[in-house]
Amino acid sequence: MARGGLAVASAGGQQFEAKITPIVVISCIMAATGGLMFGYDIGVFGAVTSMPDFLKKFFPVVHRKSNEVDINSNYCNYDNQGLQLFTSSLYLAGLIATFVASYTTRRLGRKLTMLIAGCFFIAGVVLNTAAEDLAMLIIGRILLGCGVGFANQAVPLFLSEIAPTRIRGGLNILFQLNVTIGILFANLVNYRTVKIEAGWVWRLSLGLAGIPASLLTLGAIFVVDTPNSLIERGHIEEGKAVLRRIRGTDNIEAEFQELLEASRIAKEVKHPFRNLLMRKNRPQLVIAVAMQVFQQFTGINAVIFYAPVLFYNVGFGSDASLYSAVITGAVNVLSTFVSIYTVDKLGRRILLLEAGVQMFLFQVIIAIVLGLKVKDHSTDLSPGYSIFVVIMVCTFVSSFAWSWGPLGWLIPSETFPLETHSAGQSVAVCTNFFFTFVIGQAFLSMLCHFKYGIFLFFSGWVLIMSIFTLFLIPETKNVPIEEMTERVWKQHWYWKQYMDDDHHDAEAAASNQVSIPILSRFWVFLSRIRVSCSFDC
Ligand code: BGC
Repeated sequence: MARGGLAVASAGGQQFEAKITPIVVISCIMAATGGLMFGYDIGVFGAVTSMPDFLKKFFPVVHRKSNEVDINSNYCNYDNQGLQLFTSSLYLAGLIATFVASYTTRRLGRKLTMLIAGCFFIAGVVLNTAAEDLAMLIIGRILLGCGVGFANQAVPLFLSEIAPTRIRGGLNILFQLNVTIGILFANLVNYRTVKIEAGWVWRLSLGLAGIPASLLTLGAIFVVDTPNSLIERGHIEEGKAVLRRIRGTDNIEAEFQELLEASRIAKEVKHPFRNLLMRKNRPQLVIAVAMQVFQQFTGINAVIFYAPVLFYNVGFGSDASLYSAVITGAVNVLSTFVSIYTVDKLGRRILLLEAGVQMFLFQVIIAIVLGLKVKDHSTDLSPGYSIFVVIMVCTFVSSFAWSWGPLGWLIPSETFPLETHSAGQSVAVCTNFFFTFVIGQAFLSMLCHFKYGIFLFFSGWVLIMSIFTLFLIPETKNVPIEEMTERVWKQHWYWKQYMDDDHHDAEAAASNQVSIPILSRFWVFLSRIRVSCSFDC
C-alpha cells in the first residue's frame, strides 16, 4: 500500500511506514559488493587451474597428464584430487570462518564483520598474486575463504534487516546479483587473459580479485549498521536514530518497539546455536539446510565452476569454451534481474516451482545430446549441436538465476527470528560451503565416471527439491521478519505442529537428547567447541 510517497508495510494489525530512501539503496548496493568476490573466485578458478603455466608451476603432474594426448579422454582430462582440493580449500576455510563470523555479527555488528571480510580478501589476493610456491598459494586461498565466510554471513543478514519489508526480497537479491557479476567479470578476464602469452598471466587473473576486495572494504567503511544489530548490542538511541534515517520518517515507533522486543528476546538467549535446535526453530533450520543442499545439487557449480573445462571437454576449442562461459555468465546476470523484479510481487514459491520444471527438462535434454554426440575419445558435436548445447546450458542457468541462486540466500536470511538470526545464517552459509566443496571436489571425477549421466543425476535432485518446495517451503513475501512465526509458521499445514508454546519446548529440549537428527547434533557439537573456545582459546 502506498501513502503520500511512503511505502507502508503491513505488520500484522499495525502498519510500518517506510520510504525507499537513498541511504537504504546506497547501503545495500555497497554491502552487496560482498558477493562480487565470492562470484569472481567461483568464475576465475576454473580457468586459472587449466592455465599451462600455472599448472606447470604448482601442479606439474596435472600439466603432464593434460599434454599426454593418448591417455586424454573427453570426460577425464583434469581429474586430479590435489587440484580439486586446492580449488575447494577455499570453501573449507569459509565453512569454519562462518562460525567465528556468527559471533562477530552478533557482538561487533554486521558492518564491522563486513570490514573484516574485506581485510581478509585483500590479504588473500596479495598472497595469491605473489605466490611463489604451493604454500603461499594455499594460505592465500584460505584467507580468501575466511573473507567469503565473513562476507556471506554478514551481507545477506545486513540486507534483510535494513530493507523495508515490501522490497526486502529484491534488495537481498542484490547480493546474488553481485555474485553473478563477479562470475561474469571472471569469465571476461579469462577470455582476455588466455590470449596473453606470458608466464605471469595467472597472476593477473588472481590479482584482479583486488577490485572486488577493495570495493567491499570501502563499502563497509561507509555503510551504517542495521538498527536490529545496534539495538541488539545495546545502542538503543543510535538504533532508533538509524531507523528514522533509513525509513525516511519520524513515524517509526511501532517498528522500533517490535525491534526492542525482538532484541529483548534475543538477549535472553545465551547459546544461539543450541537455541537453534529448539523445537520451535526446527522449521527454519530444516529449510535453511535444505535450501543450501538443494541449491548446490541443482548442479549449478558443475556448470559455472568448471564451465570452460566442461565446454572444452565436450569438444569445444579452448577459445570457444571461454567464449561460451562468458555467454553463460551474462545469462546468469541478466536472469537475476528477473528475480529482483518479481520476487516481492509473485513470491518465492512460484519462482522455485517454475524453475524446477525448467531445470529438470533442460538437464535431461543436455544429457541426451551429450550421450548421443560425445563419446569417451571422440566428439561428434557439429557447430549446430554445440550452439544447441550452449543454449540448453543457458536456459538451465537462467532458471537457476531467478530461483535457487538468490532464494537459497534470501529465504534463510529472512526466516530466522532475531535471537537465532546470525546463528541460523551461519548454519546456512556453512552448509552451502560444505556442499559447494563436495561438488567442487567431486565434479570432475563424477564427470569422468558418470559422463553425460551427470546431468541425469542432477535432474533427479531437481525433482526432489521441487517436491520439497511444493509441500514444505512456505511463502514469505511481504512478511516482516519479526512476524514470521505468527504469520507463516503457525499457519503452515505441516510446520505449525512445531509452533506450540514454550512449555512444549522445555519438554522437547529434554527429548531432543534422543530425537534430534545427526546434522543437528553436529551443530551442538560445534557450538560446544565454540563456547569452550571463548573461555579457553
Ligand atoms: C551459489 C553459488 C553459485 C552461484 C551462481 C550462488 O548463489 O551459492 O554456488 O556458483 O550462485 O550464480
